[in-house]
Amino acid sequence: MPLSVCARKAICSPMNTGSNNNDSSNGGGGGGGESLKVAIVGHVDHGKSTLVGRLFHDTGSLPEGKFEAIQAMCERRGMPFEWAFLMDALQAERDQGVTIDTSQIWFRTAKRGYVIIDAPGHKEFLKNMITGAAASDAALLLIDAEEGIREQSRRHGYLLHLLGVRQVMVAVNKMDLVDFDRGRFDAIEREYRAYLGELGVTPTHFIPVSARQGDNIAQPSAAMAWYKGPTVLNALDDFQVVTQPDDLPLRFPIQDVYRFDDRRIIAGRIESGRLSVGDTLLFSPANRTGKVKSIEAWSVPGQPVQAGAGDGIGITLEEQIFVERGDLASHETNPPIESDVFRARLFWLGERDLGVGSRYTMKLNTKDMGVVVQSIERVVDTDDLSAREATGVARNEVAEVTLRADTMLALDEFSSSPQTGRFVLVDGYNISGGGIISMEGYADQRHLITRRASNIQRVEHDVTEENRQHRNGHQGAVLWFTGLSGSGKSTVAVAVERRLFNLGYQTYALDGDNVRHGLNADLGFSPEDRAENIRRIGEVAALISQAGLICITAFISPYRSDRDRARGAGGEQFSEIYIEADLATCEQRDPKGLYKKARAGEIPDFTGISAPYEAPDTPELVVDTAALSVDEAVERVVAYIQGRFAIDAKPVAD
Ligand code: ADX
Repeated sequence: MPLSVCARKAICSPMNTGSNNNDSSNGGGGGGGESLKVAIVGHVDHGKSTLVGRLFHDTGSLPEGKFEAIQAMCERRGMPFEWAFLMDALQAERDQGVTIDTSQIWFRTAKRGYVIIDAPGHKEFLKNMITGAAASDAALLLIDAEEGIREQSRRHGYLLHLLGVRQVMVAVNKMDLVDFDRGRFDAIEREYRAYLGELGVTPTHFIPVSARQGDNIAQPSAAMAWYKGPTVLNALDDFQVVTQPDDLPLRFPIQDVYRFDDRRIIAGRIESGRLSVGDTLLFSPANRTGKVKSIEAWSVPGQPVQAGAGDGIGITLEEQIFVERGDLASHETNPPIESDVFRARLFWLGERDLGVGSRYTMKLNTKDMGVVVQSIERVVDTDDLSAREATGVARNEVAEVTLRADTMLALDEFSSSPQTGRFVLVDGYNISGGGIISMEGYADQRHLITRRASNIQRVEHDVTEENRQHRNGHQGAVLWFTGLSGSGKSTVAVAVERRLFNLGYQTYALDGDNVRHGLNADLGFSPEDRAENIRRIGEVAALISQAGLICITAFISPYRSDRDRARGAGGEQFSEIYIEADLATCEQRDPKGLYKKARAGEIPDFTGISAPYEAPDTPELVVDTAALSVDEAVERVVAYIQGRFAIDAKPVAD
């Protein structure tokens, strides 16, 4: 298989100005130096090709004779010249020589090179932007002066906001068709500025243009002397290059592992940061480390000792460790987050609505992974920006959702690493949506699954599990209560403990507020602290259960991943018991007055108010405390325990 990752540095720009340079400068750019990536977005008919053609022409960036050739062709066929024909011809040429990034086309001003991220349609736009093939520094939004703002113009504005593109200019095109009327331009500017303003996007410039006639593209327009601002090209030159992925932490998603003679070459493209021979790399989520022995660059003669963002490379390691496609390599400091659950802002394009429980394949960097939609927090109407609660997301809607992956993932938040913080969802074979990752309310689980100690061995007990069971008349167990604060966990736990004790059981209740006075006094309520809280309790409860007792735990334990880990520690004897009461009921009870405080903003990260609660999917037992009395709730739990863990007590021989 050819290494498509290498293609990026070998793209022929239409300028043919030696873009096959092998330097690792940010994004290449027609002969080296700084280049700016601009996404040009607009409704299909609003004149994108014309504008792009005009930009090429007016910057002298067209290949020699191309313009004349297309002009002659049009004359021969008796058609009026169209810039779109020219762009089509260039596109066709490029398509022949390029395997990826066909959307990248370059022109130069006196200041620098430009990479245009063309967005022929929503899908392509999303694909380009979301897969990170083309994270843009800036965007040029195009609106037709005659047609005005269309629903799609709003959607495009929203997408830019979603993808965090901060530098935006708006070109109001086809001004020639409205007699260069200032009133028309002002009205569009007012309306679109107001819309973008609500999103927090402030366009640097609104420019009235006629791409066809060249007004305000490279030259100020004589027909619009009333406009005093910059031309499109001047405004572009004002933008800053914002993505400097070389300066970000190293992210090297593994595309493939090849065997060459006796070497194993780990190949991929560096998305951000730099790596050098001798560096120790951490491969996540496998959490294996290895030292870089050599860098094998495909397009450079010799063996480089360093590589940077955008470089397609292969590396060999000193150690023979298992690495596979989809692993994400980083340095040991600044590694990616590890989690099997995350939040996303999602743009949905699927034919079928996205609903809670739907399964998709997620493509994240080079990893393909099954994900399930765990919840839909809200759906945003991109037209009027209203948000609503919903159980489904329709085509062209944007939503905030929580996704759960089948196993642990290595990922980044979009805000800190745009290159590796975005993903697409595939339904069957179709790209059906894309989004950006946020971990708000969720913990990095990396430290929970990394074992630091070495040279440790387990000691076998002489007193066996059976010995203890026979003496106690029951098995040891973990009864893991979960539920919102105020759902009745502690009340039921303490009452169950008393009942079991009276029935002759060995039992002990561990309670959240109590444990936080001692063992977990160092932990607060951040997602990371809660995860660690539950990890420790999970281990302690497992030990108590191994000691032969029935351990009842009463912790909110709001995260499924944490409870699953506790289940892993507790083993066969673990039961999850959902102490169910909805938020309204708990808030009404408010036994400790905490909901009131949380609503007043006095308690941050309060479960159910400003922090998530993930109800169990398949608990062993559900106890609905809104419908049952305390005695009834206790009966249910005790009956479950008796049915499941009681055995006939027998005297034990020493
Ligand atoms: S957990 O989320 O880590 O499982 P835990 O059960 O130990 O929480 O502690 C929950 C108790 O701490 C609540 O019953 C409440 O009394 C108190 N508490 C204080 N701050 C918070 C908060 N931000 N969110 C939830 N509970 C809180």
